[in-house]
Amino acid sequence: QVFLGTFVSSKSRQELQYLHGAAVCVDNHGRIAKVDEDCTSVELVEDRLLSKLGWKRSEVDVFVAKPGQFFFPGFIDSHVHAPQYPNVGIFGKSTLMDWLETYTFPLESSLSDLAKARRVYTACVRRTLAHGTTTASYFATIDVDATNLLADLCLSLGQRAFVGRVCMDNQDMCPDYYRDESAEAGLEKTLQTIQHVREIDPSFELVSPILTPRFAPSCTSESMKGLAKIQREMDLPVQTHVSENDGEIALVAQLFPESSSYTGVYDDHGLLTTRTILAHAVHLSEAEAQLIAARGSKVSHCPCSNSSLTSGAARVRWMWDRDITVGLGTDMGGGYSPSILEAARQAALVSRHVAMGIDAADPERERSKLTVEEVLYLGTRGGAAVVGLDDRVGGFEEGMEWDAQLVALGSVDDKGVATDGDGEGPDGGNVDVFGWESWEERIVKWVFNGDDRNTKKVWVKGRLVHSRR
Ligand code: GUN
Ligand code: ZN
Repeated sequence: QVFLGTFVSSKSRQELQYLHGAAVCVDNHGRIAKVDEDCTSVELVEDRLLSKLGWKRSEVDVFVAKPGQFFFPGFIDSHVHAPQYPNVGIFGKSTLMDWLETYTFPLESSLSDLAKARRVYTACVRRTLAHGTTTASYFATIDVDATNLLADLCLSLGQRAFVGRVCMDNQDMCPDYYRDESAEAGLEKTLQTIQHVREIDPSFELVSPILTPRFAPSCTSESMKGLAKIQREMDLPVQTHVSENDGEIALVAQLFPESSSYTGVYDDHGLLTTRTILAHAVHLSEAEAQLIAARGSKVSHCPCSNSSLTSGAARVRWMWDRDITVGLGTDMGGGYSPSILEAARQAALVSRHVAMGIDAADPERERSKLTVEEVLYLGTRGGAAVVGLDDRVGGFEEGMEWDAQLVALGSVDDKGVATDGDGEGPDGGNVDVFGWESWEERIVKWVFNGDDRNTKKVWVKGRLVHSRR
């Protein structure tokens, strides 16, 4: 396949790269074989590219983006709970611990009904794909069959995914109706999911298992140590929650008095690895940040959730200053939206709240504010680094894989009718772009006013996985 048009992606944290009139050639494995920065027409494709690649014109599909549309790397959601999809937006006045008990555990438990799990997981994968999420790191539930079904659905619907069976075996902290019978039983179930994913995707090309101790309070030392052993033996990624909420942090200190901090609990059990994703990290101490950086573990910033559940405002600049790799998570369920574009927007706003908490005379006040370029970086390359796929996704370099979305921004015609500029009707017309605003302004418009109506098509590993009518 060959894609022609404008390509926008993160060049660095601070800067976006714009390629106009460019061509990206994608081979049958979904890999980007060639990028030509100056290929403005279909006619040129043959002369300049296909002959060099040895590809026959008759075997190549050429997709041309319309003027004003652009290709953008697919989003990476580095922390999302698939079973909580039915609850998005429902959180009332609760904070983390009572929210888990009131809303979350009953819902997750109900997904042991496989027919319900299929409905919820299908909707979740389709909906996140429609929002441009090409890679997701999923928490499933404690149920093996339902978790394996989520892995099956990611593979068949074409979403790149990490799928974790949730481990929660602490009898004192987890409800009787929703917990592993024992540490040993939980570890055995986790191995069953790993085995299942190996059977459906032997080299974890699209779908990979991920070890998922829910969070320290729900796990015994025995299960955390067991998971760390599996991690070392199989070199698998790990995901969990850390330092999200004041009450939770106090509880962890009570449950694990021998550890020096919440982060220290995971380190003491061998779970802080270079492949570990820590969600939230709102209230980290200096020592905890240093420990995460030293271990090379990563952080998923979940601003929608942290505001919804009144958890706090995580300091992204502060973590970057300490060499911590950060990406974005919707934390759907806790977060009210399945969209990483929404998470990016909220990351920008939350960083302004962080700024407002800093003295006006302190230069850190201004520095802590994140730019549009930075929040888009978090949602693409940052997230790719968090899930360990930065050599494969998050940008459009040769050798990377074609995980991309086609974005169309609309305008309103003189009769007030929204159009998306490509003659296909009002779809995607929710971002008004008048006249010839700069590309930089168009991107800002997209970040602050856009949504899934602007994402016209989505590809993962070269496969078209979503197309908006
Ligand atoms: N901590 C433990 N479980 C959860 C969860 O499901 N969501 C959030 N946001 N935090 C958690
Ligand atoms: Zn979460």
